[in-house]
Amino acid sequence: MTRKERRVGIIGIGYVGLVTGTCLAELGHSVVCMDIDAEKIAALREGEIPIYEPGLPELLKQNRERMIFTTSLEEVFDNCEIVFIAVDTPPTFTGDADLSRVFQVISSLPGLSSDSHILVMKSTVPVGTGTKISSELARQEAGSIDYVSNPEFLREGTAIDDFMNPDRIVIGSRNAGAGDKVAALYGKIDAPILKTNIPTAEMIKYASNAFLATKISFINEIANVCEEIGADVSVVANGMGLDQRIGHHFLNAGIGFGGSCFPKDVAALKQIAGNSGYHFQLLTAVIEVNELQKRRVVNKLKKHLGSLTDKTIALLGLAFKPDTNDLREASSIVLASRLLADGAYVKAYDPVAIPYAAKAVRGVLLCDDILAAVEGSDAAVLVTEWAEFAELPLEQMKKLMNHPLIIDGRNFLDPQQVRDAGFTYEGIGR
Ligand code: UDX
Repeated sequence: MTRKERRVGIIGIGYVGLVTGTCLAELGHSVVCMDIDAEKIAALREGEIPIYEPGLPELLKQNRERMIFTTSLEEVFDNCEIVFIAVDTPPTFTGDADLSRVFQVISSLPGLSSDSHILVMKSTVPVGTGTKISSELARQEAGSIDYVSNPEFLREGTAIDDFMNPDRIVIGSRNAGAGDKVAALYGKIDAPILKTNIPTAEMIKYASNAFLATKISFINEIANVCEEIGADVSVVANGMGLDQRIGHHFLNAGIGFGGSCFPKDVAALKQIAGNSGYHFQLLTAVIEVNELQKRRVVNKLKKHLGSLTDKTIALLGLAFKPDTNDLREASSIVLASRLLADGAYVKAYDPVAIPYAAKAVRGVLLCDDILAAVEGSDAAVLVTEWAEFAELPLEQMKKLMNHPLIIDGRNFLDPQQVRDAGFTYEGIGR
């Protein structure tokens, strides 16, 4: 190890923790990865990776000798000065973030020697949490522990590239020296580093995710209006995006956003505002539009098929977006349960998420390929824009389906091509 390469600990080897640890190892650091889930740690030691993320297995293999997997918090703190917390902070029923896992870590910090440590928060925590934790640490007189907020902006499916080529690195700290040490870990990455205080760093994360979610709900409402007036939202979005102040990103209309971050972070920011006495009206609408958007497909199906009782609907895609096996808050879950509640039979195929789907979409017949899913169905709904679906076997599908209807929930298909193959096509706002 050179002077620039450090020993770094990661507590919580979920999605963010594993990607962060592997990428820090790729940057040359030695990484001690700790999780309380002994089974997961045993699997990782054997080289088994619990999540689907393109490029991650190869990167982990390349850097394996710089990574230790353990269930011992002591091992982390004995070996590492800088320790990241990457435990999950799921939403509670009120929309607040559940910080129990974060506080469990803070309360079980091993009796620290006189060595100094820096705790770096990667998990998304409500604004104000860092200040609270750093005062708590100072009160515990737990050796010398500094606290740094270093929010993560990586997206599932492109996590490694997002980590290695970020738009910015945000470092919030009380003590500039601690912030500088954390910033130095990213020395090999070419990106602007924004150093700020702790609450500002926490807010940058929430505000960024809430703004992107707002962009999606906005374009989804524009799509809904386009349907009424005969405009095409794809062209509208392109026309808007050419204005550099707006940009093209996150203007794809569809059946709503899902995943482990947007729904949770938008609800948490609304709640953070509410808890401090401010009613964040815009976010209330963003959430409501997203919920309604997931259900709009049901009306589209009814428009063509009448009652859905005893009809068979095939869902193409279950994951909340392509290139992930993640089903958390996926639009497919709400859609499937609405269809089942209306008396329909629901079949589904996903290139990756099927083995993880049985619990998430109970009552849905899970199929091994596109043709098995559409066989005997009255309509196919494209829910996730997997690359595999760009070239649907339309001819064979038409022969197998009861009724040639395709609802394109992601505006992913070429409408003309689908119509030319003899299908009725409906997108979102096209
Ligand atoms: C998001 C943020 O992008 C990332 O910075 C943060 O760290 C975690 O949350 P992720 O949840 O992995 O990342 O997925 P993302 O690609 O942002 O998509 C989120 C959801 O929005 C998906 O359901 C996607 O289908 C939907 N989406 C995205 C749209 O409906 N339209 C768009 O134009 C873009």
